[in-house]
Amino acid sequence: MLILAIETSCDETAAAVVEDGRRILSSVVSSQSSVHAPYGGVVPELASRHHIENVCPVIRQAMADADLGFAALDAVAVTQGPGLVGSLLVGVQAAKAIAFVHHKPLVPVHHVAGHIEAPFLTHDRIPLPALALIVSGGHTSLFRVEAPGEYRRLGRTRDDAAGEAFDKVAKLLGLGYPGGPVIDRLAQGADDRAVEFAVPRMTDGRPDFSFSGIKTAVLYHVRREGISPVGDAGRVPDAVRDLVASFQRAVVTALLRGLERAVEAHRPRSLLLSGGVAANTRLRTDAAGLAESLGLPLFVPPVALSTDNAAMIGAAGFVSFQQGRRGGLDLNADPRLALAETTPP
Ligand code: KG4
Ligand code: ZN
Repeated sequence: MLILAIETSCDETAAAVVEDGRRILSSVVSSQSSVHAPYGGVVPELASRHHIENVCPVIRQAMADADLGFAALDAVAVTQGPGLVGSLLVGVQAAKAIAFVHHKPLVPVHHVAGHIEAPFLTHDRIPLPALALIVSGGHTSLFRVEAPGEYRRLGRTRDDAAGEAFDKVAKLLGLGYPGGPVIDRLAQGADDRAVEFAVPRMTDGRPDFSFSGIKTAVLYHVRREGISPVGDAGRVPDAVRDLVASFQRAVVTALLRGLERAVEAHRPRSLLLSGGVAANTRLRTDAAGLAESLGLPLFVPPVALSTDNAAMIGAAGFVSFQQGRRGGLDLNADPRLALAETTPP
């Protein structure tokens, strides 16, 4: 079964062709990060305009790389939400147009379902149930995965997503956008114990997360120490490198503490880590260490499939297609789309 998948929920215009939800025949991602970098974050209006410019060339490239014509497709999958409404609309319109003209079924996909399915693209035998830690710029949640397409959210961030905290701290320090990769690089070899940040604990015992406190603590530290924003990304003072390393350690500790607590409560057979922040070197290393100490296999997609891409939407689209989900030509983008969850046993 050949699915063309389209993803435009934030600032990446992406298209992919995926066979049977597993084999990636092509995956094209056009990033707009240089467009948004001067603003220190995604500017929704600019994102929509760039998606409009890029969506057709990106789809054409994905079809050419897969060496296929539209007639060969079995379905078109598209991210319906959540995300920026103007951005989502571009992908949804493109998908509807292709589905209409070529008489193909249209399959709406939840963006986070894509991140949850991403590890299955590169690993065939994932023991289930799994616990999935999904960490991106817009989401930070823990899910129990019973089977592909069957998820239950166990915990979520109560304020900022982890990636959002990386981006805001980088902006505060004048380190550019997106902040995650810059902080990841600068933290390497720096003193991650230079600044002590309290790792929040949920008083009600839920495996939820909170990152705005750590972000505010960075702001107070910067003010107290009189640290000024870095003008030249090539010359970053040690005090800033140590600060971002300490911040990163606190965020990674909070994420893995939540994961560990959920493992104790749910006894999964494997762990999944996905989403843009799963590209983080420290998180990958520490998650591998935690998995080993818990005696559980950990599955993390390669970086290109952890950050936003359309192959993951093809994987989730295949599952949705098999579950019978279809979109009509009245399908609309939904910036607050809820993830369909299975009920607890
Ligand atoms: O999954 P993604 O591409 O888009 C969303 O669904 O949000 O995640 C983007 C986020 C950004 O906040 C970015 O700073 C963060 O992932 N990110 C990282 C790294 N690479 C990307 N955060 C920490 N370390 C990284 N290496
Ligand atoms: Zn994402």
